[in-house]
Amino acid sequence: MTLATPLDVHSATPIAAVQTRQVLHVGCGAADPAKLPAAFFPQGLWSELRLDIDPKVSPDIVGSITDMSVVASGSVDAVWSAHNLEHLRAHEVPLALAEFRRVLRPMGFALVTMPDLQQVAALVAEGNLEGTAYISALGPIAALDMLYGFRPSVAGGNDFMGHKTGFTAGTLAQHLTAAGFAQVQVQRDGAFALWATAVNPG
Ligand SMILES: C[S@@+](CC[C@H](N)C(=O)[O-])C[C@H]1O[C@@H](n2cnc3c(N)ncnc32)[C@H](O)[C@@H]1O
Repeated sequence: MTLATPLDVHSATPIAAVQTRQVLHVGCGAADPAKLPAAFFPQGLWSELRLDIDPKVSPDIVGSITDMSVVASGSVDAVWSAHNLEHLRAHEVPLALAEFRRVLRPMGFALVTMPDLQQVAALVAEGNLEGTAYISALGPIAALDMLYGFRPSVAGGNDFMGHKTGFTAGTLAQHLTAAGFAQVQVQRDGAFALWATAVNPG
């Protein structure tokens, strides 16, 4: 999609048309434009395509990240995955990362965040399993929620919200590298989350 060509108001000469880029938001949950991190997806420059396994969140595409065959290969500029990969079984993670790479155009990037199990484990080692670690948009989060899934959602019957695997900075970097991503960078934010960026070399 191309935005209307803007004009430089001083010279009245056309400047380059601004091309919108597409981000595939996987495991998107309920619609909320604020879920796109502005540093990576400046407003107006990106269009969002939402995919989730749960039809109740009304995604554009209902499906699993382990098989996104309805999304054409090389068709998106970015994949954004927030608190999603840990909902897979461990053996499904390589399938999902292969799908992330397949749908990305060459030099497109993945931005991935999820619980930092190394920091969670430190909390558990202190004996703090159910105490509030931080407050999320959904409510208080304890180590137990980060290990096994947000208890109120699971108690409400939403099995898609259960956690079946987990990551440290080291294992996330290994999985992304094994999937063929380049420029893999993983950061621990110190607030119980890992943040990774990785580029599809093509
Ligand atoms: C903790 S929520 C995160 C929602 C959103 N990304 C956010 O950060 O607010 C996890 C989401 O992953 C979805 N999910 C779980 N398993 C999935 C799968 N195999 N494929 C796609 N989405 C999945 C759930 O339905 C849920 O919407």
